[in-house]
Amino acid sequence: MRNPDLSSKEAKWSWKKALSEGLIDEDDTSVLFQSWNLLKTYTDHLVNAFSHPKSLHAIAIKTQPHPKVLERIVKWGFGLEAASMEEVKKAIDAGISPDKIVFDSPVKTKREISYCHENLKGLRLNVNSLEELNRIPKNPNFQLGIRINPQVETGAPEVYDVSHDESKFGVPVSEKDSIIDAIIRFPVTLLHIHSGSQMANIDSAISAICLLRDIALEANSKLELEGSSRRIETLDIGGGLIPEELIPGETSKMQEYVSNLRIRCPELWEFELITEFGQWNYFYTGYAISKIEYSILKGRKYITYIHIGADFLLRDSYVKPRGISFEALDSNANSKTTEDVTHDIAGPLCFAGDYLAKNIDLPQVEEGDLLLLSGTGSNSYGLWSRHCSRAIPSFFGVDFKNKKIEKLSSRLNLFNEI
Ligand SMILES: Cc1ncc(COP(=O)(O)O)c(C=O)c1O
Repeated sequence: MRNPDLSSKEAKWSWKKALSEGLIDEDDTSVLFQSWNLLKTYTDHLVNAFSHPKSLHAIAIKTQPHPKVLERIVKWGFGLEAASMEEVKKAIDAGISPDKIVFDSPVKTKREISYCHENLKGLRLNVNSLEELNRIPKNPNFQLGIRINPQVETGAPEVYDVSHDESKFGVPVSEKDSIIDAIIRFPVTLLHIHSGSQMANIDSAISAICLLRDIALEANSKLELEGSSRRIETLDIGGGLIPEELIPGETSKMQEYVSNLRIRCPELWEFELITEFGQWNYFYTGYAISKIEYSILKGRKYITYIHIGADFLLRDSYVKPRGISFEALDSNANSKTTEDVTHDIAGPLCFAGDYLAKNIDLPQVEEGDLLLLSGTGSNSYGLWSRHCSRAIPSFFGVDFKNKKIEKLSSRLNLFNEI
């Protein structure tokens, strides 16, 4: 379990401040927070790590699709990676210019492609297969890319691994000749990979980017031989890094990744670069606080029941805990100092798998105390499940440095919105 200090002070302040400003009421049995300061720290770190003269860091929308968060990302000058047409529209609503949108849906309709061509000049659109190229207009108004499956072993957990041989994502690199042939025949100027999420094997991830570079260089030589002035100009390297805590004075995994890329793939700095990091930017920048409804001794341990569970943290309960940490607070949001006991943290759903943690030691808690969950910033709000029809909690944006808090959205029940 990681040290929860990173956002604990801020989180306790946030609850107290929201309460004192009347922004939380009795029905707010849990609330969600986005730290603007932490998010800025991560996104700035990303930009500085790459120090690329021509880059578009397109943050994956699916990781945190709250409209107010997207607006903030756009205001800071970042791009957005969209996995669906709905996400493209969300990006536009957030005020972005189309050339900063990367549209990666694996299942685009002909109408969606036409819409992009007619309305979104400069958008970046990556096809998922060579077959999809036949749906592209002759002279598209968007930049056209091909997603390549590097077929490398990235060490990503199976459900997040997109680079195995039969993946539904991208054109297998083993079909390199067909890819190069397609680059010559269609107006392609961008090549894309996203090798997987939570990749444990960074060396393979870098090898995949080297493969992308090799195809780009080979295609550019062929284009030159053919007398064409068109070139592959942009390499989109996707996202996929495991979230990490940034510790001042220590080299981050992101910096290590980039240093290795500089050694093994220096040509990346000669192309335009697109990145699509999602959870690396967000994971540690979000937190949630739930009231504790009960904590009941069953056998040797306490089952502690809270108001968010598998509806909010779907991946943690259905797949595998991702490292979210827990801190017991009293009803005034101060750290509990009671003796540690063993807890199972149970969510509110009528579903046997709805646990966020088992057998963890935390101070003993009681009805009315609070539980702080840190590390809820990615793939949580965006995955909200309707199972058991519970409402999405109120969502706050926090500027801890300037001691400001703002309600970004009120409690919402999706089942009431038919
Ligand atoms: C095409 C694409 N790009 C980027 C991402 C973001 O990945 P991550 O959050 O692992 O950085 C995803 C996630 O599924 C994706 O499918």
